[in-house]
Amino acid sequence: MKLAGVILAGGLGKRMNSSLPKVLHTVHGTPMLQYVLNTIYGLKPQTVIVVAGKYLKEIRELIKEEGSTTFAKQEEAKGTADAFLKAWQTLKGFKGTVIVVNGDTPLIVQGTLKKLLTLHKKRGNKISFISFISKEPGSYGRVIRNEEKEVISIVEDRDATESQKKINEVNSGVYAIESEAVHILKEIKLNKSKGEYYLTDIIGIAKNKGMKVDAFCTGSEDELMGVNTREELERVRQLMKDRSIKRWIARGVNFMDASSVFISPGTRIGRDTFIYPNVYLEGNTSIGRGCTIYPNVRIHDSIIGERTVIKDSTLIEESVVKSNASVGPFARIRPGSIIGKGARIGNFVEVKKSVIGSGTKAGHLTYLGDSKIGNNVNVGAGTITCNYDGYKKHITHIEDDVFIGSDSQLIAPIKIGRGAYIGAGSTITKDVPSMSLAISRVEQRSIKDWVIKKQFKVQSSKSKVKGAKSRK
Ligand code: UD1
Ligand code: CA
Repeated sequence: MKLAGVILAGGLGKRMNSSLPKVLHTVHGTPMLQYVLNTIYGLKPQTVIVVAGKYLKEIRELIKEEGSTTFAKQEEAKGTADAFLKAWQTLKGFKGTVIVVNGDTPLIVQGTLKKLLTLHKKRGNKISFISFISKEPGSYGRVIRNEEKEVISIVEDRDATESQKKINEVNSGVYAIESEAVHILKEIKLNKSKGEYYLTDIIGIAKNKGMKVDAFCTGSEDELMGVNTREELERVRQLMKDRSIKRWIARGVNFMDASSVFISPGTRIGRDTFIYPNVYLEGNTSIGRGCTIYPNVRIHDSIIGERTVIKDSTLIEESVVKSNASVGPFARIRPGSIIGKGARIGNFVEVKKSVIGSGTKAGHLTYLGDSKIGNNVNVGAGTITCNYDGYKKHITHIEDDVFIGSDSQLIAPIKIGRGAYIGAGSTITKDVPSMSLAISRVEQRSIKDWVIKKQFKVQSSKSKVKGAKSRK
């Protein structure tokens, strides 16, 4: 079957009360339109047309397109039929089935679209659409059926009579239209009350012409709801969150308080991972099996291995933490870092653009930036890689089995050879050869009885002052 996808995204979205076009409002970081587009791509259509209005440029910039996607411009928001016409003009003589979806329906899933296409083909319809039962039909178009239960038209809420308003089978805004039926589009008249051309009118026109049309009541309101207001957007966010939590629970993930956890659609989580409250897994994040993610952790675009523990209040961005490692509490792993297998990154440790080898430990109050650190290195408390000279960033290279004593500063560029020791409190400015000790601090002196002498000095100076006063 030849298939083309059309997404209507040219409306102004006035009810959102926003300067941002409606379809670019995000659900968990991704624009609504992107969800619809991705679902359409899943059907593998030959071509996809996105109809956009005066915000075409902004939409194009923010949307990730695939394959043969074209943006058709609808200069003026003259209604859904006019928007579809713009797509049709771009499709230039396409022959086959066109699937049309409103761009404000982000929860729709591929299975429902496939059902529509299968039923549409099986029945040999010229036009089919998806309807659903709405608890509060509100602004949706009502599906009008005759006594034989055949669909005869769609009536928009604002044009419906009181008895039509009571109908709770509504139009989802998803249509399958055969190319040979598209010509009837030109018969759609301007709806004077709204000043728009309604795509929904195509149903009544087709039916009058004796074409086979039908509505398939598949899918739920929670899946097919359209977003016109911010309240509806908020509902979509909640529904999408519930959907992803349910999915991960079914796949063996444990939550202590799932309602407080946010998981982006791009995230994957291995089974037997335990997630504490208030955790944010964002972007394309992957968490391996058997991990524990403690409260208040945010992980963005990162990969976490298996059985790794991320302790309380830790931020990890665009990094990799390998298996059996432990990070946090209160750690910050900045972009471009790789934490090796079984490594330990402890409290108040910041790692930036650094590779930390397996079994290496940096337990406390440390900054590791632009560094390459080997395996089984011990980084003492308060160690700082001084990577920036005010102009450029430099690399610190620490080989395997090095021991860095606490409160050391390593002035980059610098290399600490395998197995070397750095005495605590050192400022290291030169490369340290392998297996040697580097120490750079003033040798300790103990001054005998210094305290007693100091006390004596103070007392005698006080008595001098007193004597001077009493002589007056
Ligand atoms: C539309 C349907 C309604 C259906 C509902 C489902 C019409 C006339 N009504 O109503 O029957 O129940 O969707 O959610 O189609 N758009 C354009 N250009 C325009 C106007 C709109 O591209 O000139 C796009 C919008 O960006 C949006 C989609 O078409 O993505 C639907 O438009 P919207 O104004 O939201 O229609 P509804 O009133 O929700
Ligand atoms: Ca809508």
